[in-house]
Amino acid sequence: MLCLLALLKVLPLAAGVHVTAQQASSFAGATSSDVFTATATGPDTSNFPEPSVVGFAGPTPTGDEPFLLQTGLSAPQKSDIFPLEHPQVLLGNTPQTSTSFNPARYWGNLSPWFSVDSAANGLPGASARAPKGCIIKQIHMLQRHGARYPAAGDPPAQFATFLHGVANSTGFKAIGTLEFLNTWTFELGAELLTTFGQQQLFERGSTFRILYGKLLDGFSHTPVFRTTSEARMVDSAINFAAGFFGVQTYQNSYRLEVEIESEPFNNTLAPWENCLPNGNNFFNLGTEATVAWIQVYLPNAVKRLQPQIKGLNLTTEIVYAMQSLCAFETVSVGSSEFCGLFTEEEWKGYEYSLDLNFWYGSGPGNPVTAAQGIGYVQELLGRLTNTIPSTGSSVNSTLDNDTTTFPLDQPIYFDFTHDTVISVIIAAMNFTSFNAAGPLPLTHIPANNAYHVQHIAPFATQLTGQVLECPVSSNNSTLVSNIRWVLNDAVIPLTGIEQCASHKNKDGLCPLDVFITGIKQLIAEVDWTFDCTANYTNPGVPNNLTGGKPIRH
Ligand SMILES: *[C@@H]1O[C@H](CO)[C@@H](O)[C@H](O)[C@H]1NC(C)=O
Ligand SMILES: *[C@@H]1O[C@H](CO)[C@@H](O)[C@H](O)[C@H]1NC(C)=O
Ligand SMILES: *[C@@H]1O[C@H](CO)[C@@H](O)[C@H](O)[C@H]1NC(C)=O
Ligand SMILES: *[C@@H]1O[C@H](CO)[C@@H](O)[C@H](O)[C@H]1NC(C)=O
Ligand SMILES: *[C@@H]1O[C@H](CO)[C@@H](O)[C@H](O)[C@H]1NC(C)=O
Ligand SMILES: *[C@@H]1O[C@H](CO)[C@@H](O)[C@H](O)[C@H]1NC(C)=O
Ligand SMILES: *[C@@H]1O[C@H](CO)[C@@H](O)[C@H](O)[C@H]1NC(C)=O
Ligand SMILES: *[C@@H]1O[C@H](CO)[C@@H](O)[C@H](O)[C@H]1NC(C)=O
Ligand SMILES: *[C@@H]1O[C@H](CO)[C@@H](O)[C@H](O)[C@H]1NC(C)=O
Ligand SMILES: *[C@@H]1O[C@H](CO)[C@@H](O)[C@H](O)[C@H]1NC(C)=O
Repeated sequence: MLCLLALLKVLPLAAGVHVTAQQASSFAGATSSDVFTATATGPDTSNFPEPSVVGFAGPTPTGDEPFLLQTGLSAPQKSDIFPLEHPQVLLGNTPQTSTSFNPARYWGNLSPWFSVDSAANGLPGASARAPKGCIIKQIHMLQRHGARYPAAGDPPAQFATFLHGVANSTGFKAIGTLEFLNTWTFELGAELLTTFGQQQLFERGSTFRILYGKLLDGFSHTPVFRTTSEARMVDSAINFAAGFFGVQTYQNSYRLEVEIESEPFNNTLAPWENCLPNGNNFFNLGTEATVAWIQVYLPNAVKRLQPQIKGLNLTTEIVYAMQSLCAFETVSVGSSEFCGLFTEEEWKGYEYSLDLNFWYGSGPGNPVTAAQGIGYVQELLGRLTNTIPSTGSSVNSTLDNDTTTFPLDQPIYFDFTHDTVISVIIAAMNFTSFNAAGPLPLTHIPANNAYHVQHIAPFATQLTGQVLECPVSSNNSTLVSNIRWVLNDAVIPLTGIEQCASHKNKDGLCPLDVFITGIKQLIAEVDWTFDCTANYTNPGVPNNLTGGKPIRH
């Protein structure tokens, strides 16, 4: 029989926590897909002339670029997951659709992104719209890929193998809320962007044009955007570009720098590939923390569900895989019968399992986090100061030492990356508002927890640096450059960049020169060689780290 305790050994959920075998000739990752692929032998294309051949396009005057975050009254807010089904939750003894509780908001990095209120970061009243008197001048954007299938070794696929294995051998019989398992089959591929994920990125791209299009006025080069080489990452970048530029012209409107994501290549958008302390497992701290927490919040669910299935013994690990299946099936095929098996409390427990996974796996509580995030900060510093980034860390100096592949004069920078890269960058930038509750306990959810992975790294999460010109003060209208950071529409207070913190700006602004001094200090404080290559002591979980750095002796 399969050992289901192994289920979580490869807790996947976060990119980079596990290593997928790569074919030597390809850096595209897994490429299994849903089934339809058109054959080459359609009707002769001469029967279907191009629109340009047909002509009669009607009037084609183009309009002005939009600039909603500058010209609008407020920033638009996203809250739906259309066309996915609003997942059910267990109310009493019955799976039901709740009007007040949406499980999809409690899936950590598997949640579809939604707009977060700045109050969640401790900045009530702040908005992504330009503050009064400020003019948006430049954007530095990090964009995660959209919804994807689970990886081949993840709990969903392991659960399917286990269940189908029992069905084939001794057999099982499920009743009640589990009855659907008698006929359930696993229909998901692996790792690729789902159709919903494509939609998310297209929507992110078109929305970005509406929010910031005007920044392109007067820019005469072809912009360069960057992505890693994995299939879902490239697909995400292309879908975004199609939404941003429009499907008729996007292919000629930008250049895509595809950076190899594979060990040992330097890549700031996949920084774990050349930062491999103690054998590339980052001590598995995130998984350890999640596994410990599962024993706290899921035993009741096991007790409730076990009487509904005969011939198969449930464990907390198996039930955890069932929660993951709710999330993955919903974002892949639109709905899942696994969702309604769990109560509101259990969904909050599931979210916390992912908060812990990120905090200790690729957040403030892991000693390699700052080192992994610092390469992007070096590149950001280069872009903000119009200089070639410094070398070392995960910076690829071949690509970054050339303004063809690493331009320094763009009004918009788009970098496509992973959930855990955004979380390590957030730690490297010392955005300490997320650390308000201190190191996360494995025994309970702290009331003041501010580290919410569904805010930080959901599917299609977006972290945006806005460079703005703002008046020096209310009585001096001279404009000076400022910067601030916006995560899924919520402004982040710059509490952890000492020099910015003293400004205590209610809109999250920091004078650009002050911010630059601050990130130079952050870069200086990381010892990449030690953090990524030394054989230091495993801090274990829980631990008291909050800066994503090891204790260096
Ligand atoms: C179960 O049996 C089916 C049909 O014979 C087979 O296709 C499948 O591979 C088996 N699954 C497992 C996990 O043994
Ligand atoms: C830098 O990136 C290029 C292109 O992806 C790659 O060929 C090269 O090997 C990389 N350099 C290092 C040190 O990883
Ligand atoms: C379930 O666990 C019980 C008690 O440990 C054991 O007697 C039984 O054989 C197990 N059933 C299966 C299907 O593994
Ligand atoms: C790759 O990273 C290592 C470690 O920081 C560095 O020593 C090396 O110079 C880098 N190579 C390139 C081409 O950037
Ligand atoms: C970058 O390119 C310049 C000019 O070719 C060269 O002098 C310098 O050594 C390069 N720096 C790195 C880090 O490769
Ligand atoms: C300008 O405004 C600041 C507060 O916004 C105030 O402290 C300062 O005294 C004012 N200076 C003048 C010259 O009015
Ligand atoms: C307004 O601020 C600018 C920039 O700090 C400064 O140079 C200028 O003297 C100030 N003007 C007044 C009237 O204080
Ligand atoms: C990062 O934040 C911590 C906690 O607020 C602070 O002690 C530290 O000085 C900050 N680092 C920098 C470079 O500002
Ligand atoms: C790392 O340190 C531990 C404990 O001191 C030791 O057992 C282990 O062999 C070391 N590993 C390497 C690669 O040096
Ligand atoms: C963390 O710090 C607290 C308070 O200083 C201390 O009681 C606790 O033992 C520390 N925990 C670990 C794992 O070091």
